[in-house]
Amino acid sequence: MKKTKNLLYSLFFVSLLITSCVEKQNKPTIINCENNVSVYYPLDYNKSSHTPSFAILNEPIELPKVTDSSFLKVTFSEFTDRQIAQISFGSNVDLYGTGEVMGDLIRNGKTVKLWNTDNYGYGKDNGQRLYQSHPWVLGVGENGKSFGVIADNTWKMEISLGERITFSSEGPAFRVIVIEKETPQEVMKELGRLTGTIELPPLWSLGFHQCRYSYYPDERVKSLADTMRLKHIPCDVIWMDIDYMQDFKIFTFDSAGFPNPKETNDYLHKNDFKSVWMIDPGIKAEKGFFVYDSGEKINAWVTTRNDSVFLGKVWPGDCVFPDFTQSKVSQWWGGLYENFMKKGIDGVWNDMNEPAVFETQDWTMPDSNNHTGDEYIKNDIHLRYHNVYGMMMVESSRKGILKSNSSKRPFVLTRSNFLGGHRYAATWTGDNNSSMKHLKQSIPMSLNLSLSGQPFNGPDIGGFAGNATAELYAHWIAVGAFYPFSRAHSTKGSISQEPWSFGKEVEIVSREALQRRYRLLPYLYTLFWESSNTGMPVMRPVFFNNPSEKYLRTEQENFLLGSDLLIVPKWSENSQVPPGKWRNVSINGENSLNHKYHPDVLIRPGAIVPLCNTIESTNSFSLDTITLLVSLDTNLSANGILYSDAGEGFQYQDGEFSVIEFFAETKNGISTLRTQIIDGNSFPNDTKINIKLILDDRIVNSFGLIEQTITMKN
Ligand code: GLC
Repeated sequence: MKKTKNLLYSLFFVSLLITSCVEKQNKPTIINCENNVSVYYPLDYNKSSHTPSFAILNEPIELPKVTDSSFLKVTFSEFTDRQIAQISFGSNVDLYGTGEVMGDLIRNGKTVKLWNTDNYGYGKDNGQRLYQSHPWVLGVGENGKSFGVIADNTWKMEISLGERITFSSEGPAFRVIVIEKETPQEVMKELGRLTGTIELPPLWSLGFHQCRYSYYPDERVKSLADTMRLKHIPCDVIWMDIDYMQDFKIFTFDSAGFPNPKETNDYLHKNDFKSVWMIDPGIKAEKGFFVYDSGEKINAWVTTRNDSVFLGKVWPGDCVFPDFTQSKVSQWWGGLYENFMKKGIDGVWNDMNEPAVFETQDWTMPDSNNHTGDEYIKNDIHLRYHNVYGMMMVESSRKGILKSNSSKRPFVLTRSNFLGGHRYAATWTGDNNSSMKHLKQSIPMSLNLSLSGQPFNGPDIGGFAGNATAELYAHWIAVGAFYPFSRAHSTKGSISQEPWSFGKEVEIVSREALQRRYRLLPYLYTLFWESSNTGMPVMRPVFFNNPSEKYLRTEQENFLLGSDLLIVPKWSENSQVPPGKWRNVSINGENSLNHKYHPDVLIRPGAIVPLCNTIESTNSFSLDTITLLVSLDTNLSANGILYSDAGEGFQYQDGEFSVIEFFAETKNGISTLRTQIIDGNSFPNDTKINIKLILDDRIVNSFGLIEQTITMKN
């Protein structure tokens, strides 16, 4: 009797298990769209669970005829506890993207969890989930033919990349968008069209940034700025971490340490610096605190499943969290920046916005928390909105900052974000360690973020957690000068990690490294302009030079800055260089070949790279004199492009900019250089041009004026 009862029980549980795992396959509806984009909808797709799309800014435009010519196969299946989309892509395809991830550049065989997590030292879950989520995979086939796949889904999800791409979500059935193109570059541009691209950043944000948790009090900030100038270390921005606040209350200033933030900012401005100040989402739940009181009035907070206000601990203790799904909250939040920015603040750092909640099992708020929503964003649980919480926050911040001063380009840095969130903020890769491992890791990490639509990114130079050594810092600053976002940062209690903290040798390395960056600003700014127009990344994997060359696909130590410069760190082993004669160039008189730390910079054959003079702040940026590094290809010709505008404000949208093209060629031992203004304003015709024609055994120098044809004898 007992036996039969046990057997019945077992049968019952097995059948339960089977039903919960039973797979319901369903045939998707395919919508063919312009530009080789196809959208796949599962049978039980419920639009209201996914709209508005957070990733997609411009909906793909449907074509009248359905032609399933895709070489990819998309299938959907449904389990009781999850929804799955699988994409088969054939063999010999290298996969990239998937956002901010640990590990190799190539993602084949990897699993990524899309659940934004405050992951100190990248230690949790082996770093399989970090601060951001990008449901996006880029595939590059044997001949360079490429595709991109977006799972248009904000719910908790996992991507695993085996023989197929599998998106497995804990939310309702979701659509999949597929892009198919001839090259990975074309895929990136299409991603840019669908998600939107970055806004052109202010020029100063491309300078070097110095940060620490925390510079305190204001006198220390000023003396840091003084030391930068005294030691001639190029630097544009000083950062204020949480200790500037009164009791960690956002939008307040510590009365002892920062009694007069306006005066501190004035001091920084006078010395050609900008300042960025931190704002977290956790608001101290304290009656009488103006941010809490004003939010309370409009029921601004995320609530629990029982409709009470959710309280979670962050830096200030018990906090409430703005519910950005409500437009009125987003507007209220944006409005808080008005008085704040009036203190002379130039940029804002939004941190802890996964959101991080201390003393909880998963270091965030419960999945079941409630987001009220409104007519635009539907009321739903946190499981749906967790991954876009940071993105909604930075969108609100950006809008508010712009409103507070509509003549300046907002600069926002965020830790948490989602695919498409590059529209609102630049990013850094969170709390890395001061270790050689994390320095090396920063390159594939920044590359995959770049290949996921976020061009403006970089890690904490020197490493955040732990103490850097002189050797590590020197390597890091030498390479870090070439990250799209170049900021040194370190944690509380760590040793000082400023460019001069490790003695004379490292101080010199730091100065030289940053001088290289600053001289490259015309080129770098042109790359950001290109990115804002087309979605092309600033930092690119080496295989972008020649996507059909298989041997370049795994290169993850060297990287490209734009298409014309290859950065080869000193630790790079078996370095893979694209075909052709890439020549080592000196950017600012340095000789990297015999240097212990400075990466080699190689110029593409056929490229012309514009440089400005050596400066210490973008305030002194000028194109009165332009130096051109010229490297001829096998046809003995080269060309390059330069975009320029005021570097701030929006006049460029009314035509206040110029795009200049340079052409060089050599015939019968005589080289000529011509310039042509191809768009925008005319350029002052007394602009001086210095040419450095880089030959195999020497450099030929010449000079002239812009718009003149300059000739030189090789
Ligand atoms: C988080 C940030 C770090 C910051 C610290 C204090 O750990 O990732 O950059 O310094 O909080 O605000």
